[in-house]
Formats: sequence, C-alpha cells, structure tokens
Amino acid sequence: MAYIKSAALEETGYVVLDRYNQELDPKEWLDIEFVDWKSSGETQFAPLASAFGDIECNGFWNHKPPRTDKDGVWVQSQIEKAPNLTRRAQEPGANVGRCRVIELQPNNYADALYNLHQDDNNRLNPDGTGWVVRGFFNLTDDKDSYFVLRDNRTDPSVEYRIALPAGAQLIVDTQRLWHAAAHNGTEPRYCLITSWESGPALDAYIEKYNGVARVPNVEVPQEILDAGQAEQTRRLAARAAALAARGVAETSVMSEA
Ligand SMILES: [Fe+2]
Repeated sequence: MAYIKSAALEETGYVVLDRYNQELDPKEWLDIEFVDWKSSGETQFAPLASAFGDIECNGFWNHKPPRTDKDGVWVQSQIEKAPNLTRRAQEPGANVGRCRVIELQPNNYADALYNLHQDDNNRLNPDGTGWVVRGFFNLTDDKDSYFVLRDNRTDPSVEYRIALPAGAQLIVDTQRLWHAAAHNGTEPRYCLITSWESGPALDAYIEKYNGVARVPNVEVPQEILDAGQAEQTRRLAARAAALAARGVAETSVMSEA
C-alpha cells in the first residue's frame, strides 16, 4: 500500500496555480476572529475549519479521539463572515482538514530560514488513503514577500522562492518541503491555508488552474542569501544550545502553518 499522491507535485513538491483575482473580493480576513497561535514567526490564526468547529487551531491529532488532518468541521460563525474564502477552500471538492487564515507580521529572509519547518499533516493518516497537502492563497498584496521552500532545512542548494502578490495560489507538500515565508513589508500578511486530501478531485483542480511545478525564483541579492544562511546557522546553534542547557531535545517538526 502507499499513499495516494498528486503526480503534479512529484517533481518539486509544489505547484503554482493561475493567479486569482483577489482584488474583486472583499477583505473578509479583516472580519473573522483570530486567536493567538505561534508558528514560524509572529503569527495569529483565524480558523475556518477546525477539529470540532470551534475557534481553535490545534492539530486534529491532539484532540480526543486523535485523528488525522481530514474531515475538518466548518466554524459557522467564521464562514458566515468569509463566504469567498470558504468557497475557495471548498472548490477543489477534496476533503478539507484544517483551514485557516494566517496573519504574519513582517520579517525578513534570515527569519524565514530560521523558521523553516515541515508540517505534520499526515500523522495518523491511514496508508492507502490520500496524502494531505496544503493550499496557500495569498490574500494581501505582498509584493516584496516570498515563500521559501527547501528540500533540506540547512542546505541552500535546493531553494524555491515564490512570489506572494495578492491572488498567488500554491499547493505545497508541506510535510516534504521545509517552508516559511519571508515577509518584507510594514503591514501583516494574510494567507488562506487549507489542508486538502490528495486524489482525483485535487488533481483535477490543479489541472483546471494550470498548476506548474516550477516558476522562476524570486531574485534576492547574493549577499542577502549569504547573510541569511549565516544567520540561520547561528540561530539554530544558539537554539540547540539553549535547549540542551534545559535538557530538551531539538524537534524539527512543527505541526502548524
Ligand atoms: Fe507549515
């Protein structure tokens, strides 16, 4: 047995879809309720679907009974305020697990490298069923921001940098790729993140919106890349030392964002 995965994501671990015309929709993310949930930077999250339809963001495996990141329950008070976001999350027709809007405060490339993590979307996911991947729909027009994806956390040789203008639409195997956003700006970035089950419905959606496995990397000056890499090395070492001093083992997998 093996998980059902999208062939479209096999090469790089991500696809970029056609850009959505975000400007035509109201800014629903300003109306929904956010809760503190720290992940990969200074963040809050507004759940649209959660384990039991409550306004909380915990991984479904941390609830009783524990379960995988599928069959999310829509949060009624939230989806009433965000019908367009809900429609877009439901459009593929794939099973939805967690669905939430992230609010990320400004940071930089070095922060993104430090924040790189893999998600835990497939914990408790039964073999033979669809692998859970995540959609990222950028809502704010973050012209100087980009998603950073790596095969290996500390190795810059495979690094994808994907632009995040309003309407950018990505689907990422976030359990495979290390990922975080570099958000160069002065205002918070908002992005809709949806856990989808891979399968024929998601494949058809990727095809409908012309998903491509490679786009040109956002250009970043070499000195910023080099400085970011050095800073990541320094901060990861400092964190490991601090954890060691407390007798805590390093964990590289974060469950969120
Ligand atoms: Fe993540």
